[in-house]
Amino acid sequence: MKDKITIICPNERFAKAWTDSIRKQVPDFEVQLYPDDTNRNDVEFLMAFNPPQGVFSLYPNLKVVASMGAGVRTILTGTGLPENVIVTKIVQPMHQRDIADFVLALALGHMRRIPEFFHQQKEKIWRHHPFQRPQDTTAGIMGIGAIGKVIGELFLKNDFKVTGWSRTPKQIDNIRTFYGDDQKDAFLTTAQILVCILPLTDATEGILNKKTFNQLPKGAFLINVARGGHVVDKDLIDALDNGQLSGAALDVFREEPLPPEHPFWTNKKILISPHNAGNTHPDVAFRKVLQNYYAMKKGEPLVDVVDRKRGY
Ligand code: GLV
Repeated sequence: MKDKITIICPNERFAKAWTDSIRKQVPDFEVQLYPDDTNRNDVEFLMAFNPPQGVFSLYPNLKVVASMGAGVRTILTGTGLPENVIVTKIVQPMHQRDIADFVLALALGHMRRIPEFFHQQKEKIWRHHPFQRPQDTTAGIMGIGAIGKVIGELFLKNDFKVTGWSRTPKQIDNIRTFYGDDQKDAFLTTAQILVCILPLTDATEGILNKKTFNQLPKGAFLINVARGGHVVDKDLIDALDNGQLSGAALDVFREEPLPPEHPFWTNKKILISPHNAGNTHPDVAFRKVLQNYYAMKKGEPLVDVVDRKRGY
């Protein structure tokens, strides 16, 4: 049987980038795009990002779903994914570094008051602002896993103090780490800049809420490059209104694209980017996916496998 990969990705731009890249890299493969794909009984290997509910039940012989991103929540929940199917995720240094660069830019931009200068320029206002230096600032990385560590290390290189929090203990040079529910509050009290890069799971859904914001130092800045489901939107707006947070940079939202009527759009303390912190690069990322495809064919172990119970 011909080698075959099927892609399920409602985001047309992202689907096209991956499909074009895969067709170029493996011209002999049959590459199909849901919902126009045929012969679903033949499909053993799927690639997916934000797949529609229930979709995997259409593929009775499915063995592997390769996420086209680092996040896998929308693959694991409500999709009819059978228990025996292996799920992999993208683990890619260039993607990690892209996210880290963006987070650093957001942090420095906030500290150096760049958004205010944009607003002032529109009104031709010439006004100085005090600013904050990295040496006096602690960045707290909420979710100090593979990507979180790259962010933390980039902040360290830029003279920030860095703390990190994760579900299980982690040891990273020069980063003060905390773990588990018991140490969460102690971690939050350190984070003048709180960077969320947690996986979205039942345990982390809504974790950026009023209680969390109130543990942060007054005037903290939130950067969310994880998932919109981490944020309780109303609590965030309240924390910005009452000055507990000085601002927020949000790259991800409960609904994407962010609906035009959402109050985040017009809040002057919020900087919005369209899920753009890092894009997986198919020309590079597909190499490991392909390695996993052949491993599946040979019955060998795959890499970058998701722990389905843990949810990431
Ligand atoms: C992007 O959000 C990803 O999951 O890689």
